[in-house]
Amino acid sequence: MKLKVFKDHNEQSAAVAEMIIDCVKTKPDALLCFATGDSPKLAYQLLATKAIKENIDFSRCFMIGLDEWIGISPGNTGSCHWFLNEYLFKPMNIDQSQIHLFNAFPKNEKEECRKMNKLIAVNGINLMVVGIGMNGHIGFNEPGADINSLAHIAELEETTKIVGQKYFQDKVTIDKGITVGLKQVMEVEKLLMLANGKKKAPVVKRVVEENVSTDFPATLIQQHKNGYLMIDSEAASELKTEVQ
Ligand code: PGA
Repeated sequence: MKLKVFKDHNEQSAAVAEMIIDCVKTKPDALLCFATGDSPKLAYQLLATKAIKENIDFSRCFMIGLDEWIGISPGNTGSCHWFLNEYLFKPMNIDQSQIHLFNAFPKNEKEECRKMNKLIAVNGINLMVVGIGMNGHIGFNEPGADINSLAHIAELEETTKIVGQKYFQDKVTIDKGITVGLKQVMEVEKLLMLANGKKKAPVVKRVVEENVSTDFPATLIQQHKNGYLMIDSEAASELKTEVQ
């Protein structure tokens, strides 16, 4: 794992945007997997602005969503669908034929997971962006998740249900999520894990300083062959040593 500490959230996000652009320049038909949430939002906004301004060709790549809340409609501003469309796909003029997101209302749950697994299995994910949950989750791989899991539906932990309300205008019931699995996360070619702000400092400390365990899934990045923990100085403020 490489730890990259940036002066502030803006610098951190600009670096993330740059890494996504570099990936697509190197591999124009890359498979990219994107998380939603407060951690990657600015990076996506900067990416869209830069990609349009510099006319970077994303037309051959394919984009998948890391996860989705089960039972939340795509039109809800708290859904992962809405977020990715609003901050990434629409501003970048990404065609719907280049996108696959989990259906929040799967008629057949196994089939819904199989569709995502099939897409990922073809050539693997070239680059994945993830945040870190307050309970250490990656996507909806909650504490105790199976290291060998592929896409699956997960029961959400209490922390995720409570923290997750921040994305929604009105109170919602969020009990389950559908997510890319930990095995698929660990197999991505490049993993960008983002955290910013003071409230993520204790979480980042655990990711860096605790032993690797699925009890705090984000610690798995320590064992990723090409994992970048990209954080701002506030998120780094509780680390014993700050390594650049
Ligand atoms: P956040 O969420 O980026 O909104 O902090 C992170 C997560 O729960 O994965």
